[in-house]
Amino acid sequence: MQKEWFAEWFNTEYYHILYQDRNEEEANRFISNLISFISIPNNSKLLDLACGKGRHSKILNSFSYDVLGVDLSENSILEAIKETTATLRFDTHDMRKVIPKLKFAAVFNLFTSFGYFDSPEDNQKVCSSVSEMLNSKGKFVIDFMNADKVIRNLVHSEEKIIDGITFKLERRFDGKHVFKEIHFSDKGQNFHFTERVQALNLQNFQALLSANFRILETFGSFDLAPFSVANSDRLIIIAELKS
Ligand SMILES: C[S@@+](CC[C@H](N)C(=O)[O-])C[C@H]1O[C@@H](n2cnc3c(N)ncnc32)[C@H](O)[C@@H]1O
Repeated sequence: MQKEWFAEWFNTEYYHILYQDRNEEEANRFISNLISFISIPNNSKLLDLACGKGRHSKILNSFSYDVLGVDLSENSILEAIKETTATLRFDTHDMRKVIPKLKFAAVFNLFTSFGYFDSPEDNQKVCSSVSEMLNSKGKFVIDFMNADKVIRNLVHSEEKIIDGITFKLERRFDGKHVFKEIHFSDKGQNFHFTERVQALNLQNFQALLSANFRILETFGSFDLAPFSVANSDRLIIIAELKS
């Protein structure tokens, strides 16, 4: 059976090459802002769901939390576990499933790590799994693209040269998903991957979360500016488990 696109693409070295210019200073500031806002006691257990190589897990851990980072990509987790300590752990895990026997004060799903699945029920599975892994009044933080703005400003065609590789990027919107076609050649081989993210807006998240969560706040940037459909780059949702 063919692997789902996100299981394949995110597990390649090329995904990390293409996105290597992520802003670590910005990530630090974002986590610091989030921690101040949700004010969780030190030493609480936190889950970084779809952690990649664990960049946010490490920052969360530096704020004196006990952090588990999980991701579907074995290669990313192999990289992340090099940083393992007594209070910072990593494991491979599919976010549609519950991690047995573990409960967290907060679960973080950051940098548009949602909306990849073929079936809409899988989105619901993620939300209900998260609800089962949270302590009473636990927080679920989702940081997603502001789909409306992304669609309005879609850069249809672009070329990026990184580490000597020319990535040809083509983006389109089919009414439901934002597609990014990624073409490049390396070591004499041609590659083609497709990223496909559901264009979920605030109303879609409200519907998804309503069964188990109440939304406490929404923000539109890593500096936690108010969310505006017209202007925000991000859609950041802070939700709390219903009692
Ligand atoms: C855009 S990246 C963001 C990674 C990380 N949060 C960061 O900010 O660097 C999305 C991540 O979601 C992971 N992912 C995709 N589907 C997943 C699934 N079903 N379960 C867990 N992780 C998944 C990918 O492997 C990838 O690491």
